[in-house]
Amino acid sequence: MSFVLAAASCAPRAASATSAVAAPTAALPSAAAGSLPVCPVPRAPTSVSSADRGTLPYDRDVWQTLLYHHSKIHRTVTVIENGVSATTESDDPAVATLIKDHTLAMHDRMVEGLQVRTWDPVFKELFARHEHVKIAVELTEKGVRIVETGDDPETVRLLRSHASGVTDFVRLGGAAAQRETPYVND
Ligand code: HEM
Repeated sequence: MSFVLAAASCAPRAASATSAVAAPTAALPSAAAGSLPVCPVPRAPTSVSSADRGTLPYDRDVWQTLLYHHSKIHRTVTVIENGVSATTESDDPAVATLIKDHTLAMHDRMVEGLQVRTWDPVFKELFARHEHVKIAVELTEKGVRIVETGDDPETVRLLRSHASGVTDFVRLGGAAAQRETPYVND
C-alpha cells in the first residue's frame, strides 16, 4: 500500500494539549473557537484514552469516542474510477483531531497488517488485500480527505464497501458498528 500525506495549515504540536475530547460517557465540551488543526496529529487526550498510541486499546478508545460523537461528524463519499474519495470532517476541533488521528492509525494498521474487526468480512478481506490499495490522505482544517484506489475489481469493491460502512458509522454511530458491514456492488 502506498500512502501520501499532505498537511494543511496547522498549529504547533503543543496546542494539542488543550484539545478537550470527552470520553463516550459525557457530552463533548466545545474546544476553543478558531483553533487550527494540530500538526502532526497528536495522541488523543487522556480523557479519551490513557493507553499508548499504536495499541489496540488506544485505537478502540478513539473509534468508540468517534462513534459516540458521530452526530458531530459530516462525511461525503464520491465514487471515482477504481475507488473512492471521501471527506470526513467535524466543526468541533477536538473531534476533527480524533478523525485525523484515527485515519492515520488505521493506515498504519493496514501497512502492518494489524487487523481490527476481524469478525467483519469486509474489514478482514480489505486488510488481506492491503497490498492492492493506494491511499492518499490530506489533512484538512476540520478532518481528512482521502483518495483510495485498488488495482483489481475485488479490492475496489472492498474499498467502496468499507467507505460505505464508515458512512454508516457516521450516520448511525454504535448501532452500525455492531453489525457486519454490507458489501456494495458498484
Ligand atoms: C464515527 C466513527 C468513525 C469515523 C468517523 C471513521 C473515520 C474513518 C476515516 C475517515 C477513514 C479513512 C478512509 C475513509 O475515509 O473511508 C477510516 C478508515 C478506517 N477505519 Fe474508521 N471511522 C470510524 C469508525 C471506525 C470503527 C468503529 C472501526 C473499527 C472497529 C474503524 C476502522 C477503520 C479502518 C480499519 C480503516 C482503514 C481502512 C481503509 O482506509 O481502507 N473505523 N475511518
